[in-house]
Amino acid sequence: MSDTIYLDNAATSFPKPEVVRHEMSSFCRESGVNPGRSGCDLGLRAESMVLGTRKKLSAFFNPSLVDPASGKTSKDPNHLCFTPNATASLNLIINGTLDRGDHVVSTIMEHNSVIRPINHAVQDRGVQATWVGADPEGYVDPEDIRRAIRKNTALVIVNHASNVLGVVQDIEAMGAICREEGIPFAVDAAQTAGVLPIDMARMNISFLAFTGHKGLFGPTGIGGICVADGAEIRCSLYGGTGVRSAHPLHIDDWPHRLEAGTQNLGGIAGLSAAQDWIARRGIESIYQHEIALLEMLLHGLQRIPGVTIYGHTRTERRVAVCSFNIENRMPAEVGTFLDVDYNILTRTGLECAPLVHKHIGTFPLGTVRFSIGPFNTLDHIEAAIEAVSQIAAQ
Ligand SMILES: Cc1ncc(COP(=O)(O)O)c(C=O)c1O
Repeated sequence: MSDTIYLDNAATSFPKPEVVRHEMSSFCRESGVNPGRSGCDLGLRAESMVLGTRKKLSAFFNPSLVDPASGKTSKDPNHLCFTPNATASLNLIINGTLDRGDHVVSTIMEHNSVIRPINHAVQDRGVQATWVGADPEGYVDPEDIRRAIRKNTALVIVNHASNVLGVVQDIEAMGAICREEGIPFAVDAAQTAGVLPIDMARMNISFLAFTGHKGLFGPTGIGGICVADGAEIRCSLYGGTGVRSAHPLHIDDWPHRLEAGTQNLGGIAGLSAAQDWIARRGIESIYQHEIALLEMLLHGLQRIPGVTIYGHTRTERRVAVCSFNIENRMPAEVGTFLDVDYNILTRTGLECAPLVHKHIGTFPLGTVRFSIGPFNTLDHIEAAIEAVSQIAAQ
């Protein structure tokens, strides 16, 4: 594995920082019991680890939390609920906010984690949906979001950065429009949490869906949803919470409203260590490292005859994702060559975002996607450019 060049960080970041593995292992050895279900010392330690991680992540995303009693802004970390991944969070948001007859505004830049739950809501509950388009580079005009809003619009839900084109949407402008129009605003931050600063209060985000295993450098199986105060969301997952067990229905209190059953405690421990690792390295310096490598990659690929890069080739307003094709070569075939002949791991195909590929004309075969992480080096990028150049010349 040591010679493998991993360029599939948009699927999951790899490798994980050493401290993540260490923390997960020591949590399992030393205090891995079920919090809320036992009052023993170990249970309290586990509880404190979970609360500590909620606090860290909540501070990281800065949700707007207004205490209804005092009217003062508070930072109640219990509005951050853990889920298995961004997909589960997006399902909770879509199923917990849309009723029969409601209208939802989303975009063609979405991942299937948004497209499919909305399509089910349309099919099963008579929800109406509008998919707002994008310009050729993949940017959505915030004013198009405003134009799509109707009297019965109950939710606007938008992808922060595309996992195909890497474009970063103007979330702040979209949030301002939703505030003016009085519509809850949800953001899929699967590709941006830990990569770009996200300030829910400033960006007027009602619901933020994030995953732990990409830019937050945690393990797989842990993610979450952060909810601004006043944002209405019903629970759609019912079960044990460890508290108020006599109650016949699922309880409304935070964080239990959106958490049912035993949580992924090892995953939360790993995510906590990953947060500390990000804080030590600095989110800006991780981003600058990735973007510098992206710039080099784009520059190198652009000079290879027969290579088409999708989206724009500048580095502003984007994350370190690059989709391309080689003329007359199937993306899956290129991916196999890169893997087998050059030991370079990528993602090929539709990358779970079929509407984006229809938009850029690469449906149904898709693209080859390189995505860069903090452990990639200049040598990795040079090797990737050289490999693509040799494949294109064959
Ligand atoms: C934009 C986007 N949204 C949602 C997801 C789903 O994330 P997860 O697999 O962690 O649920 C992904 C994963 O690739 C993604 O890129």
